[in-house]
Amino acid sequence: MKHGVDRQLMSNSPARIGIFDSGVGGLTVLQEIYRQLPHESILYFGDTARLPYGSRSAEEILYFVRQILTWMELKGVKMVMMACNTSSALALDIVQQEFDFPILGLIRPGAQAASQVGRRIGVIATQATVSSQAYPDAIQELDGNCQVWQVACPKFVPIVERNQIQHPQTSRVAEDYLQTLVTANIDTLIYGCTHYPHLAPVLQTLLPSTMQFINPANYMVAAAAKELDALGLSSNSPAWPTEFYVSGRPREFNRLAFQWLGYRPATHQVRLPDLAPQTIMPREQMIQ
Ligand code: DGL
Repeated sequence: MKHGVDRQLMSNSPARIGIFDSGVGGLTVLQEIYRQLPHESILYFGDTARLPYGSRSAEEILYFVRQILTWMELKGVKMVMMACNTSSALALDIVQQEFDFPILGLIRPGAQAASQVGRRIGVIATQATVSSQAYPDAIQELDGNCQVWQVACPKFVPIVERNQIQHPQTSRVAEDYLQTLVTANIDTLIYGCTHYPHLAPVLQTLLPSTMQFINPANYMVAAAAKELDALGLSSNSPAWPTEFYVSGRPREFNRLAFQWLGYRPATHQVRLPDLAPQTIMPREQMIQ
């Protein structure tokens, strides 16, 4: 399913990097891009009408990711960074074979960073990411001496999307989720969902001060910088303002985004292209 769109014809502004998440989680990745790649122009998509992704099936997530990438291809992106661990865990390997631009995910960069600093690694993530075993598999492959404990934290994404981070109940919810990891005496914690760094002020008070916190976005963006350089795709001119799109209501996204970005984005609502039903099938079945 190579789509063969002529990207140069589709856009008359410098090619952007596309990033996407189910909602405001991707803003933690966007902030890292602003820090490490200040000259790059960004196209942001938040699938707010369909979040949370973490309780979706693998087939649904793959379909959503294909829709988003097809739309981003039409917008003329030069690269996509998945600002969503759930999509990275369940769809990255498949869609990398299907689109002509480079697509980066969070799992391997996060696993690599964690295995370099820790031996007893905790992963907090969505249910879908935990069930995929993507983090334990990637860490074990990198270093068989690391031990990994995972906890699914399904209440965290609604807490962040409803802006309830400072609510007293949030700390109790977090304490419950972290209990197993504290008992396991982990030395390193991976934020295995891009929404969770928004909760860092709460999570960091509940864990020992020696804990190493890994935000996979830092490492994915560093890998993207290298890849842009290697492919001759880095931008040297000043970045254009980030373009924001959501599938749900822009106003709610803007209200939340304002508090993290420090500016109110002009967000547009977009309807993603419907894809043929057979694209719901995994690629291996499609090519039989
Ligand atoms: N922020 C996304 C992730 O990193 C998705 C969370 C969700 O929608 O459940 O997994």
